[in-house]
Amino acid sequence: VQTAIGVAHSKLILIGEHAVVHGQPAISLPFPHVGVESIVDYVPGSVKIDSTFYHGPIDSAPDALNGLTACIRETLDYLEIPCENLLIRIKSSIPPGKGLGSSASVSVAVIRSLFAYAEQGYEMADILRLADISERHAHGEPSGIDTLTITSEMPVWYEKDEPFDMIEPQGDFHFIVADSGRMGDTRLAVESVTNLLKSAPRRIHRKLERLGELTHRARTALETASKHVLGNMLNEAQKELEALGVSDAGLNRLIYIARQEGALGAKLTGGGNGGCVIALAKNEVHSKQLCEKLKKFGAHAVWSFSLGSKQAD
Ligand code: MEV
Repeated sequence: VQTAIGVAHSKLILIGEHAVVHGQPAISLPFPHVGVESIVDYVPGSVKIDSTFYHGPIDSAPDALNGLTACIRETLDYLEIPCENLLIRIKSSIPPGKGLGSSASVSVAVIRSLFAYAEQGYEMADILRLADISERHAHGEPSGIDTLTITSEMPVWYEKDEPFDMIEPQGDFHFIVADSGRMGDTRLAVESVTNLLKSAPRRIHRKLERLGELTHRARTALETASKHVLGNMLNEAQKELEALGVSDAGLNRLIYIARQEGALGAKLTGGGNGGCVIALAKNEVHSKQLCEKLKKFGAHAVWSFSLGSKQAD
């Protein structure tokens, strides 16, 4: 049997994180700058994982990998391959815990590599269902947006339990992503918002609805090449996310610097309380300048990328 490879890119939430868990829409973007490669080989013995985090049989993997190992077992069962004689090597360039969908990306790459190993084609629904097994361990009650975006080449409009939609941005939008250096825990952040919602249902529901409205307006801005409107929507969304308690000092600082340096909008991206910020630059040259500034002011990593008709970068 030949070596089989599966790859997956990462993702960013442009707007609507947290609200999407509670039925509001969100817009997410595939983020190809970082990703995961999973390589499967026939190696006699038990099923083993080789990653920077853990090297050994899936049976004795640490609890943090329970989701991934459950997902591997279920995928092998679905493919009718015995759970033995495999080495799964996982190489990731996605910093974990930074809101970039690292856990979902690992699952999708591993599932794809196992399908390739079994020489079986797959439907998108297979990947989503199998990756969801792992996401439930990682995130508790995931909306499903991370996995979906990791399997998409286009910006995604997502509402839980609704058919998803692809968005075609018009004009050019230049973004930067900056890593605050602190790891976030999406599961804890999602739980904290859910608890807030229980303790002050009307007030928090209004905030989630407001995020939904901003997301609708952000979609129109993307589809009508309205950079300034999109920037405002990002800034407004950040206010709501702060009120939901999912932003922290490190994120707020990077957001403040990005705005000071002329970003049209800036907010956290993903689960928050650690992780990354996303900012909208005026143009391509400005996005490079913003990257330099944010690096100078302590961002651990920065990336620039663009969306739209001219797909520069
Ligand atoms: C995480 O990328 C996005 C959250 O909305 C959680 C989820 O939707 O599962 C915070």
